[in-house]
Parts: sequence; C-alpha cells; structure tokens
Amino acid sequence: MTTKGKALVTGASSGIGRETALQLAQEGFQVIAAARRKERLEELSRQSSLIVPRPIDLSDSKALDDFSKELLHLSEPVTVLINNAGFSIRGAVEDVSVSAVRSLFEVNLFALLQITQACLPGMRRLRKGTIVNVSSIVGKFPFPTSGPYSATKHAVEAITDALRMEVRPFGIRVVTIRPGVIGTEFNETANRLTGDLLSRTDPDYKPVYQAYGAGMGRLFTHVSIPGPELIAHLILEAVLSESPKAVYAAGPFVQELLGERFRLDDEEFYEFLMEKTGLKGLKV
Ligand SMILES: NC(=O)c1ccc[n+]([C@@H]2O[C@H](COP(=O)([O-])OP(=O)(O)OC[C@H]3O[C@@H](n4cnc5c(N)ncnc54)[C@H](OP(=O)(O)O)[C@@H]3O)[C@@H](O)[C@H]2O)c1
Repeated sequence: MTTKGKALVTGASSGIGRETALQLAQEGFQVIAAARRKERLEELSRQSSLIVPRPIDLSDSKALDDFSKELLHLSEPVTVLINNAGFSIRGAVEDVSVSAVRSLFEVNLFALLQITQACLPGMRRLRKGTIVNVSSIVGKFPFPTSGPYSATKHAVEAITDALRMEVRPFGIRVVTIRPGVIGTEFNETANRLTGDLLSRTDPDYKPVYQAYGAGMGRLFTHVSIPGPELIAHLILEAVLSESPKAVYAAGPFVQELLGERFRLDDEEFYEFLMEKTGLKGLKV
C-alpha cells in the first residue's frame, strides 16, 4: 500500500498522542504508535489499518536500546517523528525526590533524545523529515510546584532549538509544541504519582500549597479546558505545512502568559506570576 510516509508517535495510548496518531493515519501516514499500555495501542490500531502498535516502556533503557536499533534499520525510515510521551510529578523543589526527578528526565528528555538520534540517520539519508517535540507552556517558565517537570520541558526546548538549526541544512524541520492545560489523563496521572503532598510536606509548606491551590482554582474558574484535538490539529498543521513555524502554542492563558514572559524582565514576570498563582504577599 502506498502511504504518505512513516510516522512515529510516542505516548500514543492516550490524550494528545492518541489523537495525533489517528489524525496522521487519516491523512494517509503509516503510524508506529508507541506507549506502555498494549491494550490501548491495540484498540487504537483497530481504528485504522495504518496504525501499528509498538508497546514500549520508554524508561527502560534496554527496551529503548532495542527500539533504537529497530528504528535505525527500518527499510522505510521514519520521516515524521512526534516526540509526545511525557508525564509530570508535582511538588515544591524541596519535596520531590531526586530519583523522582530522574524518572521524569528519563521519559521526558532522554527517551526523546535517544529516539530522535535513532531517526535522524534515515531522515538525513532522504534529506527530509519533520520532528515535532511536545514541550509545554512551562518549557519557558515554571509554575510553583512544577519545578522538576518544567526543568524537563526547558531541556526539551533547548534540545529542540539547537537541533532545528543543526538539521535545517539537510531539509529536516524541527518544531516545538507548547500546550497549556489540556483535558487528557495527564493531570490524573500526575495526581496519582504525586500522592498526598499535604500529608507529607513540612508544615512550613502547607500554606504555600494551599495558597497556590486556591490561586489556581480562581484562575481556572469558568475556564473551559480544551481537549487533545486542539493540540493534535496544531501538530498536523506543522507536519503538513510547506514551511512550519518553529513554535506552536495553544490552550487557556497560553498567549497571555507567554506574551508576558517575553515582554517583561525576570523581576517583573515572576511578580506577575506570583500574583496570578495566588502566592504574592504570602508570608509564613
Ligand atoms: N495535558 C496537558 O495539560 C499538557 C500540557 C502541556 C504539555 N503536555 C505534554 O503533552 C504530552 C502528552 O500528554 P497528554 O496530555 O496527552 O497526557 P496523557 O494522556 O497522560 O498521555 C501521556 C502519554 O505518554 C505515555 N507515557 C508516559 N510514560 C511513558 C513511558 N514510561 N513509556 C512510554 N510511554 C509513556 C503514556 O502512555 P502509557 O501510560 O501507556 O505508557 C501516554 O500515552 C506530554 O509530553 C505532556 O508533558 C500536556
């Protein structure tokens, strides 16, 4: 069967990745759909004969090495790579263990890097390809309690920006996607992995978490949270475009917050963000 080419979507078992895999298949791409939950991937592959499930735990270095070898030796290389798999663990910087931070980096950054490195030789050979890295609004500034997760996305942004300049001479396009809050399983997973912060933190931090929780509650009252289709559309727009933008961003408050981040200096921006998130003036 002739297709528009081979795509790989990581984190395809739910949310943004699942929707992107479906839309790419609808456009006629053959899609390798990667994630841990095999049944979810098999269900997805029943939606389109162009979707091929590839169960993998991206935090397992042996599994990642095997997958990289597979990618390097594909007879038809991946020319559309959507690095989307990712998760968050929340907490003040003092409250998140270093091993938990490492686990975030394993999936959000190191797996993205290794898969990208495994796809690049094929793209260079063909002198074409599109790499889309899913960052976040917190790839440009952290919210309180999102320091470790934001650190992974800041790292994704840096790798993506450097790569964009390095591979453009070979006709390979590299795109950053910056979603704001999107209605997927992301929050549920973050809550499960974070556990009950208030019960284990030092009493000093309780008012900080409470003020932040209340501030975010106020910020999001009456805000309708978009579904993953919003971001999948942006990804498709980038993939199908003759000359994609470097960065696509969407979601509640995203334009305002990123606009302020680039307009204000550091001093002013973090005062603005403390106010937005309910922490301004808090004294414990
Ligand atoms: N939703 C938001 O508000 C939001 C905002 C900004 C950025 N983002 C970013 O958007 C991307 C997609 O998230 P989402 O919102 O669609 O969340 P989601 O519904 O939770 O999807 C996350 C995907 O990542 C996969 N994944 C997580 N850990 C993995 C591992 N160890 N190995 C393989 N796959 C793994 C999950 O699959 P399995 O569990 O089956 O492995 C799942 O398919 C992430 O990079 C996230 O950081 C999301």
